Parts: sequence; structure tokens; C-alpha cells
Amino acid sequence: MNTTIDLNVDRNSNIALSRQIFIKISSLILKGILKAGQRLPSSRSLAEQLKVSRNVIVDALDQLAAEGFLESRKGSGTFIADGISIHLEDKPELVEFEKIGFEDVRTDITDFRSGLPDMNFFPRHIWIQLTREIYSNQAFDPLSYHQPEGALSLRKEIASYICSRRGGKCSEQQIVITSGTTQAISLVSRLLLTAKRHLVWLEDPITYDIQRIIKNNGGTIKGVEVEENGIAVPRSTVSGSFLYATPSHQFPTGVSMNVQKRTSLLEFAADNNIYIVEDDYDSEFRFDGPPMSCMQGLDPDKIIYIGTFSKTLCPAFRIGYLILPYNLVNRGRQQKWFTDLHSPIPNQLVLAEFIRRGHYTRHLTKMRKIYKTRRLHLETMLKQEFGQSVEILGSQTGIHLCARFKGRTFNSELLFKIEQTGCKVYPVERHTLNTKKYNDTIILGYGCLDTSEIEYGVHALGKVLL
Ligand SMILES: Cc1ncc(COP(=O)(O)O)c(C=O)c1O
Repeated sequence: MNTTIDLNVDRNSNIALSRQIFIKISSLILKGILKAGQRLPSSRSLAEQLKVSRNVIVDALDQLAAEGFLESRKGSGTFIADGISIHLEDKPELVEFEKIGFEDVRTDITDFRSGLPDMNFFPRHIWIQLTREIYSNQAFDPLSYHQPEGALSLRKEIASYICSRRGGKCSEQQIVITSGTTQAISLVSRLLLTAKRHLVWLEDPITYDIQRIIKNNGGTIKGVEVEENGIAVPRSTVSGSFLYATPSHQFPTGVSMNVQKRTSLLEFAADNNIYIVEDDYDSEFRFDGPPMSCMQGLDPDKIIYIGTFSKTLCPAFRIGYLILPYNLVNRGRQQKWFTDLHSPIPNQLVLAEFIRRGHYTRHLTKMRKIYKTRRLHLETMLKQEFGQSVEILGSQTGIHLCARFKGRTFNSELLFKIEQTGCKVYPVERHTLNTKKYNDTIILGYGCLDTSEIEYGVHALGKVLL
């Protein structure tokens, strides 16, 4: 039986005509509209029907035959092949995207979203110049496959920085470059969590997303209260996997651990045979002196350190790193390999040069000054607006602070009203596990806000709260 086919082509499309014909005929076959054994019209008549050259039709038919949709029978023509059946439902072509992770930052009002550095100060010219150099340098091959731990030059720079400026103890061998802290947490979870040891001690409060990532990797979370000097030393001696903490600048409360607390935690870790995972995300921005020492240097065999460039440079690079105890290095590298072979290399090479030539420390010094001015302005504005009724917490370090308004409860109605009035604030409560201590406290990120935006935001907050 000869077949007439309902075909047309779109001459304005950027899809080649032969490809359009291939797609149409193959989809008619897959949908069962063209059936096995049916004979196709000749290429000449299809060309006439569609007003295209015969070569276009021949190309399409050749491709259909190569993929098994058609078979030629000598002397009798081209037929739909046997054995093609698939049940295709007409599905909508687009899915409605759910919001996963961060909401968009509002730019029409003052959005006190925390954790965002001011990318306007990112040294683009230097970065572009170094990128050009990296791609022109024949000695590197940034475009090929690499080892899971990442670029040696970057790992060397990080090791040298952490040892000379942050009190860490490590060599480049212990470092695995990751896609931010986020991937580092997943890798650590996969490395340490087992069916028997799935318990993870976590500061309460701690970034909601961190809780989700650990749970998603099979961890059972046990929240531990945060005191004035960091996480309380847990009492339980059940078998667990690791304790996760932000010793130099707790998120979100802003407190930091003194050395007494750090050594007590290490005793707890030794007694329970667990690791401590140190998340050091933004403590480079300490305003009244150099950054706190990291905890890793106290016991490099028991502490897994996670660093990130998301706050000091920009989050979009997705460059973070793990410093692993020696006995976990190979398993850590393997986990990274299983996950994504390795993180993208070109920007790692650029970053290594950026650090080596002193641009990184200069950038930190510049940003520290900018953030300090913003922090002081925010504190002054809060005190002017609210006087004794506000308590400011954890403003010595980082790019956010917490403001406590005793007697207030930042529930969704109040937060909505505040947003309607001109500023968006974030309740600590969103990051808590068990504690109800922080109903009255909000997080105010100021990294991305200039002084006039800060003023506008604090006045808006005042209109609602006063
Ligand atoms: C406590 C904490 N650590 C680390 C990060 C940074 O994550 P990443 O390095 O994946 O951007 C965040 C994100 O804001 C955070 O809140």
C-alpha cells in the first residue's frame, strides 16, 4: 500500500529542512500513525509535495533508514520497518519549575539576605587578564581531564594560605577542590555515614540547607544548642558519625568558639571516635583584628575542614575545598571522582594565580573595609531607630548580624508586613532544629547593601516594629 503523508516544513525555522522531515516522519512512526509495512511515497513525489529539493528528502530518508525506521526492498520501494512500538502520551513540553534553594533577591526594596558578597567589587579586569593568560599558556592544559582533587597550583596556594594565615596544618595532598561547601558536605556525608553510624551532631541553629543536605545523604540529625561560645559539648555517647560546626563564626548567631570550647569538643570527638567537620565559610571578614584561627590546626587527624570562595570572591564560581585527614584522602578523592570526576579546572588555575600574585589578600583587605563601614552603619542605624529595644548579636565577623527584639515574634504575618513596608528580613527560626530561643531574632545580611539601602531598610523595619 502506498501512503500519503501529512507533512510540512517551516522555512523560517533554524532546524535544517532534512532534519524537520526526519523528525516528522520518525514521530509519525513512533506514534503508530505510520505502520510497519506501509510503503513511503517516492523521494521525487515527497520533494514535489514539500517543494524542496530531492536531496533534502534523500538525506532525511537515509537518516531514517540508518536509525532503523525504514527499510528498502529492492525494486519495490521504501517501507516502514517492523518492530517499532512505543506508547507516547502527549505530555506538556515544559514543567513548572519549583523553587529549589534560594529565593530571588528583591531589588525593589532593601533585601537583608545574608551570605551574599558585593559582586560589584569583584576585580573583573584582573580576572579577565589572568584567564587570558591561563588559556594562552601552553604549559597548562586546562581543557583536558584532570585528577579528582583538582589543580595542584590551587591546592598549593590554599595550603600555604591556610597554614600561614589561618593556623591550619596541612599539605596540598590533603586538599580536594569541590563545588563549594555544598558539595563538600555531601562528599563528607557519603564518606562518613554508615548504616550503624548515621547520627550527626549539628549546631542548633545552623543553615537550613546544611540540615537538608546531610539528611538527604542519610544522616540523622541531632541538634545541639549553641551557647555564647559556640555549640555546647554534647553529653550523649551514642555511636555517631561526625559533629558539624562553624567554630570561627557560627551561622547564624555569629558567636565564635574559644580554644577551651574547641579542645573540649575534640575530647568529645576522641571519646566517641568521631570526626569534627569544620565549616569556615566567612570568617575572613573579621573586623577588629585578623581572622580567628581555624580549628583544623588543633587536630588535623580528627578535623575535616571545609573552606569556600563563595563569600570572599563570588558564589557562582562554585569553588570550595576540603582539607582531609591523611587517612581519608584517597577515599575522599574517590568520592569526588564518583560524583563528577573533578571540578572545572580553568577557573581553578585562574584562582591559583590570583592568590599567588597577592590579588586575593588585597581583595580581602578592600572588602573588609567596605563591610566594616556597612556593619557600623547598620549597627548605628539600628541603635538610632530602636534604642534599647534591639540587641545586636554576632557583628564582629562576616557579612551579616543578628538583631534581637525582645518580646517580638517574627511569624509569617509580621514578616509579610515588614516586606510590604520596604525591607525583607530573615528569621533565625528558619534555621533552628528544636530550640525556640530565637523567635524574636532576625538575620540581617548587609554584604550587598550600600549605606542608603541600609538606612531605607532600617526605617522600613522601624515603621512596622515601633
Ligand atoms: C554555614 C554556611 N556554610 C557555607 C555556605 C556556603 O556554601 P557554598 O560554598 O556552597 O556556596 C553557606 C551558604 O550561605 C553557609 O550558610
